[in-house]
Amino acid sequence: MLAHVIPMKRISIIGTGYVGLSTAVCFSSREYHVIAATKNEENARAINAQRAPFYEPGLDAALKHSVRSKFLRAETSRAKAVSETDVSFITVATPDQPDGTIDLRYVISASEDIGRALQKKDAYHLVVVKSTVTPGTTREVVKPAIERESQLVAGRDFGLCANPEFLRQGSAIEDTLHPDRLIVGEFDETSGALLEDLLDEFYEGSVPLLKMGLESAEMVKYASNAFLATKISYANEMANVCETVPGVDVSQVMAGVGLDPRINPQFLNAGAGFGGSCFPKDVKALRNFAKRHGAQAPLLNAVLTVNEAQARHVAQLVLSCLGEPEGKKVALLGLAFKPNTDDLREAPSLKIATQLLAARACVCAYDPVVKKIALSEFEALKCSDSVQACLVGAHCCVVVTEWEEFKALTPDDFIKHMAEPIVVDARRIFDPQEFRHRLRYMAVGLGDVR
Ligand code: UGA
Repeated sequence: MLAHVIPMKRISIIGTGYVGLSTAVCFSSREYHVIAATKNEENARAINAQRAPFYEPGLDAALKHSVRSKFLRAETSRAKAVSETDVSFITVATPDQPDGTIDLRYVISASEDIGRALQKKDAYHLVVVKSTVTPGTTREVVKPAIERESQLVAGRDFGLCANPEFLRQGSAIEDTLHPDRLIVGEFDETSGALLEDLLDEFYEGSVPLLKMGLESAEMVKYASNAFLATKISYANEMANVCETVPGVDVSQVMAGVGLDPRINPQFLNAGAGFGGSCFPKDVKALRNFAKRHGAQAPLLNAVLTVNEAQARHVAQLVLSCLGEPEGKKVALLGLAFKPNTDDLREAPSLKIATQLLAARACVCAYDPVVKKIALSEFEALKCSDSVQACLVGAHCCVVVTEWEEFKALTPDDFIKHMAEPIVVDARRIFDPQEFRHRLRYMAVGLGDVR
């Protein structure tokens, strides 16, 4: 098969979450014909109606442009999506199971569907795994599933690559358009060359591209997320030490540490701990993967332990201000796990709220995007529709997500509305000097006044 002469201009994306849709709108914005395949009819309808099925800055506008120009459409049939394209990216979710190991059922079903579609297709097809999967998954799970269903042979009849992505929620499109690096894991040389050509053409050769084996590529993703999570837990551990020393401020300490180019300042912000659908899940999956393969991972264990403790620590700071918490109102600013998303998965806000509610405090939250929590265990958590309504009558305010809207608040905003103006700044967004001067101000990583 003359795979190398096939232009990879028609792309199918299997899975329409953050990764899938960002990839879809970015390719289609540069006039690649893209079919986004989702089994969720409502999502397919939303995409075809130029509406993003979830909140992500810039996604609505990008969808509008791509769907209107007819370079992107959504399909509920994976078979159709595969048969009408030259390359398929698997971007389905890989959640964790209750024991922390990775749940591959969506990856398996996507691979089987692609296999069934390939059985009926004559032309060579390239399959690229973009979902975050533990090392060995593409070779040991994806490849046999496609081969079984298609009766074809990987490397001869179809191509296979692993191509992890590093985008962040909240800046998914920007990150997809301007990545720092491209990782291409190849099953065989032809597959790797085809994906390299496609990516080089899309990025006009401007992004460093590393080619390697499938398993190394899969591991790059876990190793990257584990390192970033480690930096955050390190900053949080330093913050806890700093809090015990009068006059010490972890923000200043990390600014000093981060100037060392060997360390760099990113991901050294101490706070309420890391949340979201990636770091907690991926660090747990890597730890369990290591254990299953007989490797020790004491560092990953410690990263998770520090992270769990950090949300409890913030709740403790709040409780220490309240005296008897029963019936006292706590204003909680920020529910999303980070700004510019409506995602509540593993959000520190919910862990902190759980502790405060258990201590019988009344918790009232405000978030610019998350307006209600549809979880039965949080029935007691009230949501306000403005910062002001959230602060009125509160005995303590805790800042959990660093939304821009909160950064503009001044001590007067708290003094005016709260029953007792006490602020716990868990994201270090306020100036300690200014706030300490006007009200009771406590913050993660901030020692007492000397
Ligand atoms: C993360 C990685 O940053 C991406 O590179 C990766 O592609 C993605 O996971 C993924 O695996 O798909 P994301 O979870 O969207 O992206 O968000 P981050 O900006 O990394 O933040 C994760 C959590 O860490 C948030 O709760 C954030 O508040 C927290 N964080 C981040 C800190 O507490 N301190 C910091 O200095 C940075």
